[in-house]
Amino acid sequence: MFKTVSGTFNVFFIRVTCVATETCILPCSYQGGSDALIHWFHVTPQYVRIHAYYHNQDQLYFQNQRYRGRTSLFKDQLSRGNASVQLTGVEVQDQGRYRCFVNAGGAIKVSLVNLKVEDTRNMTV
Ligand SMILES: *[C@@H]1O[C@H](CO)[C@@H](O)[C@H](O)[C@H]1NC(C)=O
Repeated sequence: MFKTVSGTFNVFFIRVTCVATETCILPCSYQGGSDALIHWFHVTPQYVRIHAYYHNQDQLYFQNQRYRGRTSLFKDQLSRGNASVQLTGVEVQDQGRYRCFVNAGGAIKVSLVNLKVEDTRNMTV
């Protein structure tokens, strides 16, 4: 739990491990509902915007360019409360904390994901 000026939220830390160059899913779920506002950030500790969705569409104007063309939501799953983001071409620089913020009709949900990227390219067999 942590407190902000606007309330107290349950925060879940979810650990995800992905392999460099592969596609990774950063999980986030909320109580389903239409017209959700979704913001995904890479916390570096700056809040780097990696994906946003509201008014029933992706809103990528402020997306950090390192994430351009690499992020997508599962649009058919949104009404079921699945706000997971898919990240392609994962690299070691992507490692770290991610924060998913969802406002579904006033119900706020915040999730934290800890992404670990394993790079096996330089390993000898
Ligand atoms: C969201 O949907 C994707 C694609 O179907 C699936 O892989 C993932 O497990 C789902 N996540 C949750 C939290 O339901």
